[in-house]
Parts: sequence; C-alpha cells; structure tokens
Amino acid sequence: MLDKTKKDWWKSAVVYQIYPRSFQDTTGTGVGDIPGIVRRLDYLQTLGVDVIWLSPVFASPQVDNGYDISDYRDIDPLFGTLEDMRTLIREGKRRGIGIMMDLVLNHTSDQHRWFQQACQSRKNPYHDYYVWRDGTPDCLPNDMQAVFGGPAWEWVPQVQQYYFHQFAPQQPDLNWENPTLRREIYDMILWWMDQGVEGFRLDVIDQIAKEPDKKITNNGPRLHEFLRELSAETFQKGCLVTVGEAWGADIPRAKLYSAPDGSELSMVFQFEQMCLDQQPGKEKWDLAPLPFVKMKQSFARWQRELHGCGWNSLFLDNHDLPRIVSRWGNDGQYRARSAKLLATMLHGMQGTPYIYQGEELGMTNIQLPIEQYRDVEIQNFYRKRMAEGYPEAEVLRSIYAKGRDNARTPMQWDDTPNAGFTAGTPWLPVNPNYTTVNAGAELADPDSVFAYYQKLIALRKQYPVFVDGDFTLLEEEHPHLFVYERALGAEQLLVVCNFGDEATPWTLPAGWENADTLIENLPAQPGTLQPWEARILLRRDADARS
Ligand code: NOJ
Repeated sequence: MLDKTKKDWWKSAVVYQIYPRSFQDTTGTGVGDIPGIVRRLDYLQTLGVDVIWLSPVFASPQVDNGYDISDYRDIDPLFGTLEDMRTLIREGKRRGIGIMMDLVLNHTSDQHRWFQQACQSRKNPYHDYYVWRDGTPDCLPNDMQAVFGGPAWEWVPQVQQYYFHQFAPQQPDLNWENPTLRREIYDMILWWMDQGVEGFRLDVIDQIAKEPDKKITNNGPRLHEFLRELSAETFQKGCLVTVGEAWGADIPRAKLYSAPDGSELSMVFQFEQMCLDQQPGKEKWDLAPLPFVKMKQSFARWQRELHGCGWNSLFLDNHDLPRIVSRWGNDGQYRARSAKLLATMLHGMQGTPYIYQGEELGMTNIQLPIEQYRDVEIQNFYRKRMAEGYPEAEVLRSIYAKGRDNARTPMQWDDTPNAGFTAGTPWLPVNPNYTTVNAGAELADPDSVFAYYQKLIALRKQYPVFVDGDFTLLEEEHPHLFVYERALGAEQLLVVCNFGDEATPWTLPAGWENADTLIENLPAQPGTLQPWEARILLRRDADARS
C-alpha cells in the first residue's frame, strides 16, 4: 500500500476511473450504483490500483449523466445514499484505495437551489452566482455557441436577462468572479475532505474564468489566480491528489497547474495527443488518420518539458473518448495484443497513469442504431448534421468513431446475460462481444490484457525509474516504432512498441543486448518486431548517465 501521508504520494499511484452508471448494478434498475462499486473493490485491489476517480454521483437530473449537479453535498438516489458513499470510502481505504470525487465547478444543474433562486429576481443574492447579460428575447448578447450545440445563451423572462452556458442549457455557468460563491465552493470541498475522500478531479477547470463579452471560454485572465486561491483554501489543507480537466492546456500552462510547490493542482489532463486524429481547426467528429510520428513526438515533448518542473497525467481513455483499442489499436485480429501495446506505451512514461473501466480488459467501441444512443452530445450532433444535409452514413461513421457512448457501455464482468452488469435492462446496451471479452475470462487467463495491466502496475511500484526517470525518444521519425528510454541514475528502461499490423525489421540499440525483459506481449524474435509487439527492458549500468 502507498503511504498517502507522504508528500507527492500520487506520483507513484495508479488511478482507475469508474463511470458509476455503467459499472455494477445491484438493484436491477439497469443503472450502476455505489453498492456495486463496493462489491467490486476486491477486483480493483487485485488489479493493484491506488485511487478510484469516481465520475459524478452527486444529486443530479442526469441531463449530462451527472455532470449537471443539483446538490454537491448529496448523492443521487439513482446511485445510492450518502451512507453508501461513506461505506465506499471506508471499504476503499481498508484496501488501500482512495476515492477521488469528480467536482463540476464550472457549472451546476439548472435544478440547483442556487440557480432556482438566481432566476427569481436580479436582486436575489444568488443571482450573481451565475453569468447574466442583458438583451431582448430576439437579440442574444453575442453569437457564442455551446459545446453541445446551439447558442450559449438562454433567456429567462422572469429577470429579462440571458444566462451563459458552455454546455447544455440545463448546465448554467457559475460566476467565479463572485467571492461568496467561491467561499461556498471551498466549504463544500472541505466538507468532502472531512468525509475522507483522497482527491478531486475538476471538470473543465480551465473554463471557470470565462469572459463571455470577450468570447473567452478557457484560459481566462484570472484562471490561475482562482486556482491558487481554491488550492490554498482547500486542497493544501490535506494531502490530496488533484487533477484538472484542461482542454486548453499547453505546456507552459501545465507547468503552472502542476507546479512542484503544490500551489495549484497535482496535475492536469491535457488533450494535445487526443486531438491529433481530427482535421485541424474542425470538430472532433471530422475524422482524420492518426499522424503517428506527430503523436509520439507530442508525447515526448510533454515528457521532456514537464520532467522536474511539473507532472503529467497519463491516459488514453475516459468516459468522453472512444475506446483506445478501437481508436489507435486493432480491435479485430490483434485486439488483445494491441491493447497491451497501448498500455505498454503509456505506462512506461513518467506521470500518473489513469485506467478507464474496461480498458484493462481491452473493451472496444460499439455501433448502435441512432435511437439507442443516450448521450446528449451524440443526439445533438446527429440532429445538427442531418439538418445541415450531411449524408447519414457519414454522420454515423463519426459517431461510431468518436461518440462518447462507446466508452459508456456497461462493464463486462462475465458471460452471463448482460455481462453480469445488471439483472434488469441496461440503460445502454452491453457490447455483444461480452461473451468473450469479460473480466471472468481474463482473470482466469495468465496471458490476458488484465494480467498484463496488473503486471505493469506492479512494475511501476517496483522500479523507481518508472516514476522518476527522465525520457529520451529514439527512432524519432520512424513511421511504425515508438521507442523510448527512461533513465534514473544507473537504472534504465527501454520501451519498444511496434504500432500497426505489419512486422518491422529492428535490432536492439547497442548496449541493450543483455538487458532483462520486464514485460512483453509476445516472445521476442531476433531482428524483427511482430505486428503490435511491445516490451520493456531493464538494464543497470554503473557507468550509465548518472
Ligand atoms: C467534461 C466531462 O468530462 C463531460 O463528460 C461533460 O459532459 C462536460 N465536462 C460538461 O460537464
């Protein structure tokens, strides 16, 4: 177990993300719940993770599956009760697994008491908790668009004003300029800290300092000032792990967010690599092949630049992204092998790795008829592109490739009906490949994707070079190989990944011939790397770059 009283303990940690509605249902509603997570804690302990990032379980009308919170201090009955949450925190701790709550601080639900009050009158003390602008019903304050489509402004006749929302109209943006609001938020966070949570993930945190009059959404001028205050008033009073979601983060900003003095957060999720397989300047739906060389050079840049003066989060999957094995791997013939390669590539790097539920099984994307998709973003996108005259096949192709419901299909526990997820009707269909891709089968197979992840996690705990080593990219321009070295004094790693369905001729760099193999997804053959072959080697050299 990690010593979580030690400063920066989270640098050695591995985090597992749970999307509660799709994890484990215990009541037959077809929606996962907190007792279901408690039931599966032993599974997570077997995997070896230290922290659960729990997507929101707060009270919510569920317009955006919980990212629209109506009460930060209560649990949605869909998922259980506060008592269930306390049990989860306690039972997790017993197994060395902390809970990281997912706080949505950029906006609330329109059903939140604050917003209900805010709509009563301009004089109501809660009015200024939100972002309002004058206008007339037929004249919007400006032409800003919401992320989920449509205008970013919604008219409230009662106050004769528009409120600002960067996501759905049911997700009004909070006004961080208001110090009373900020204080309420800090008190709420301190309350959760008292409940024993060990960390927070902060939803779209780079958007809190918006200035809609200047059309500024992320990276507003006061962003880092707000974050430093937030951190000093809350996180710094404990020994927590914090990660901000920051689509707008570049390297200089990431250094601020994750500054070693802990003045802001532990780390951020940045999305530079995740945006590479879309057409530049267009939407995520406008597909483009992954520029492989750019991708590895981008990872390398982040690795080099944050070394010693910041901290990376390492992730390929989450509840907003398609399944990585379908996206960058081969989810057909080489599903298991390519899933292991992607894990090798990521877990060999410096940073805190995040595993999204089912990634450790090599779960894949799904294709559904449009009416079976449940995501507000998918439905809005479909309506918009169809109205714009796009061919339906093209619209669906984008949804199959990038839709968020790919990641949200229920967890595949075993080969019984509904993959052991629910005794009822699942809220979103189970991927039909559950009969072969499931936790039960993988736990019984020493060569499974699960077993591979388990080993990678154990290696990170065993060899300090995984946590602290520096990073050097080799084969920089090679169109199929992602190869890099890590070094910490005399301890060195060589990570080798052959991306793609083709075998590639390759020999070990000089000095690595006698190295130990820590992990591999195929037995090595001299002179060649097989399709999707990956391995990590270790050597100790007293004279190496110390
Ligand atoms: C980012 C979350 O990850 C996503 O699921 C959500 O829809 C938006 N923020 C809005 O809260």
